[in-house]
Amino acid sequence: MSNRMWGGRFSSGPDEIMEEINASIGFDYRLAAQDIRASKAHVSMLGHAGIVSAEISESISTGLDQVLTEIEAGTFTFSRALEDIHMNIESRLAEIIGPDAGRLHTARSRNDQVAVDFRLWVRDAIDQVDAQIRGLQLALAEKAVTHAASVMPGFTHMQSAQPVTFGHHLLAYVEMLARDRGRFKDARRRLNECPLGAAALAGTSFPIDRHRTASELGFDRPTANSLDSVSDRDFVLETLSAASICAVHLSRFAEEIVLWVTPQFGFVRLSDRFTTGSSIMPQKRNPDAAELVRGKSGRVIGALNALMIVMKGLPLTYSKDMQEDKEGAFDAIQSLSLCLAAMTGMVRDMEADEGKMRASAGAAFSTATDLADWLVRVLGLPFRKAHHVTGSIVKAASDAGCSLEELGLAAMQAIEPRITQEVMSVLGVEQSVNSRTSYGGTSPTNVVPRAQWWISSLRASDQPGG
Ligand code: ARG
Repeated sequence: MSNRMWGGRFSSGPDEIMEEINASIGFDYRLAAQDIRASKAHVSMLGHAGIVSAEISESISTGLDQVLTEIEAGTFTFSRALEDIHMNIESRLAEIIGPDAGRLHTARSRNDQVAVDFRLWVRDAIDQVDAQIRGLQLALAEKAVTHAASVMPGFTHMQSAQPVTFGHHLLAYVEMLARDRGRFKDARRRLNECPLGAAALAGTSFPIDRHRTASELGFDRPTANSLDSVSDRDFVLETLSAASICAVHLSRFAEEIVLWVTPQFGFVRLSDRFTTGSSIMPQKRNPDAAELVRGKSGRVIGALNALMIVMKGLPLTYSKDMQEDKEGAFDAIQSLSLCLAAMTGMVRDMEADEGKMRASAGAAFSTATDLADWLVRVLGLPFRKAHHVTGSIVKAASDAGCSLEELGLAAMQAIEPRITQEVMSVLGVEQSVNSRTSYGGTSPTNVVPRAQWWISSLRASDQPGG
């Protein structure tokens, strides 16, 4: 039997393999709610414009409500022969209300239909991800208040560089996540135009009201060019791009957690709720959640790459290649959402070992820059000269196998005779972080107000995209 939705000019049905490669119902069933919402807006507009009668418009709308109820109740039977969610829903509508169901597709095509459905889905996904990122930011900012003065080593090249505070380190991620939210918000603003009514590609001769459907579906305006409307997938690419950058941020943090929980670092302890054991080594506590957050970033970036490649060779307008836009996006958003939830749980439960962090912060001559700065500030040395003198003092301490403080004044004066006892006051890690009061610096006097500013603004802005 030929396809009952488009089989008029066909005498036989598709090959089994044709059906398999062509069908999208296996994944686009997820667009059911959006499809029905958009169809209801469309048919209401058709009724209002007198393109279908008020009774038919009403009957189609009620029938669509029933279809949605069936889908939500799990009693709907999806058919692969009907290809996709659009035709599955329309076909069931026809069973419920009869041949008038066929009027729903007036002045519309599956090309603008899928474009509007997917925009609605992506828009909801952005709002959900935004709320989750905000939750993670809040967890980080609250932890940052607790640890505004906890000293840890700051690293460059993965080498101890200068002491920083743990709170400051956590707030770095709050800033990164804020930029992620900005990117999602930006993508949302640009996607919020309605392609419905572009029809197959050229628009329609029916007197439709695209402004009406656009506003009914919460869009800012209709899209301006019918060809662009059905061939554009920028809104998916932009969202996946924002998702990829966010996943990279989460992955970097996950990598730090994996390092921090090793016995060698021992900076933090994850709760039992976010740790797993080994089936052979009874002593193990593995940071699997963090490792999976790190690992799943690959899927998100993969989805972006895949769709970029799908799109890059497509002439205007719609080609079936574009059906490949959905699975990657569904998977990427689901993965990102899970990663955000896992990260938020890990952060909330995370306990810092302040003693270990502090001990590590003081190792490896981490206050050498403070010594060089002292030589500049007190002795008036040019920084380059001070750097050189400090390098010689570090070498002396390293040769003696001791810290800068333990090296003692006499040994320092052998290198620079003008150094006084006062230098000792800048060599401690607390003094070091307390002195970093420049705007954006690590001192607790910066970290506390910044963390509190974040907490109050995050609590105040629980709006989507806010
Ligand atoms: N399932 C299709 C998709 O996801 C819907 C659009 C089909 N359009 C068409 N002209 N065959 O892209």
